[in-house]
Amino acid sequence: MSLSREFLLRQAEEYSTPLYVYDGDMILDRYHRLFDFIKWPGLKVHFAMKANSNLGILKLLNKAGAYLDTVSPGEVILGLKAGFPRERIIYTANNLTEAEMHMVHEQGVLMNIGSVSRLAKFGKAFPGSELCLRFNPDVRDGENERLMTAGDIAKFGILLDQVDKVRELAAKYNLKVVGLHEHTGSGIQDESVYKSMKALMGIATPENFPDLRFLDFGGGFKVPYKPDEKRIDYVKMGAEITRLFTEFCDKYGRKLELRFEPGKYMVAESGYLLVQINTLKDNHGYLIAGCNSGFPQLIRPVFYGAYHHVRNLSNPDGAANVYDVVGNICETGDYFAERRELPEIREGDILSIENAGAYCYSMGGFYNLRPMPAEVLVQNGEAKLIRRRISFEDLANQVLAESAD
Ligand SMILES: Cc1ncc(COP(=O)(O)O)c(C=O)c1O
Repeated sequence: MSLSREFLLRQAEEYSTPLYVYDGDMILDRYHRLFDFIKWPGLKVHFAMKANSNLGILKLLNKAGAYLDTVSPGEVILGLKAGFPRERIIYTANNLTEAEMHMVHEQGVLMNIGSVSRLAKFGKAFPGSELCLRFNPDVRDGENERLMTAGDIAKFGILLDQVDKVRELAAKYNLKVVGLHEHTGSGIQDESVYKSMKALMGIATPENFPDLRFLDFGGGFKVPYKPDEKRIDYVKMGAEITRLFTEFCDKYGRKLELRFEPGKYMVAESGYLLVQINTLKDNHGYLIAGCNSGFPQLIRPVFYGAYHHVRNLSNPDGAANVYDVVGNICETGDYFAERRELPEIREGDILSIENAGAYCYSMGGFYNLRPMPAEVLVQNGEAKLIRRRISFEDLANQVLAESAD
């Protein structure tokens, strides 16, 4: 399913490096297969656009009928401009301000509120409105500590034992709670998916919330990052999800919509960051391969020690050696891989940093004033530029234009 070495090398040649390449066919396949795994007629899949907000990818998913999970007014505006109807967008904000709340409400996008204090402010500002409520399912799981979003030490969601307070506020402001939501973490095991579902379904009674249209169980489906990592059995997981939700709806008395918000599952494995090695150092036997990209362009290894597989596309059969693959940023901690065994790396070689479709470009920045890479989308074997690289000149001019001085 992955793009071939020869194909990727051709893209590096044509568009130069650093370059992000995404396999659009894989993204669509992932989206459609969820409907095979989870056989529920009212299944809605919100793409977590924080994972990748490239317009070309958003348009692809909008055309396929996907829904959208947004977390800032900027994402809402871009989602609408990409063509998503407002009814297909949910807004799950953290620590939102009054201004943000008003901005998003005016767009007619459903707000997902994750704190009792914000619920009171929302009710006061917009009595009689519809809304969704985010609960903290109290299940700790995720790829690493930083990616766990539930439990007492997490800033997200309303505690399950605050339901009475929530009901009181909803009644006071005549609010219509049409959805309940939880998100446990990123890269969670299937057992945690079930546990969190049960936690949310436990409070989703007709007595507590009589107007529900949907339950949204967030994202977090685990995808393998290391070559030897086991893939979740999505077929088995989908069957169990369907079974649990069927049982729940029978008890609730109505068939509700079942919603998920995958980010990584949809796009992580579709992406490649292609970089070129330009400086090799042999420091008394300690090999360092320096490339023309850096952590502002793919921060996950530095940010939370995430593993990204690296392939030497130019010399796949070279003799193995152990390298640090480092970036061009003026920081010691700027690396993509540490002490990694790779086929011999030579200056000029193109390396592919894999599983770079989620939380890579979208977490990017301009530290050291280096422009972000261009992005290319591949469909049916054809590559199309979906975001151009801006020049150093453009970036410097942007800083000048934004300066108040
Ligand atoms: C509320 C919410 N939904 C969905 C997601 C998507 O998670 P993932 O990319 O792991 O599927 C996130 C990610 O952190 C999130 O915070």
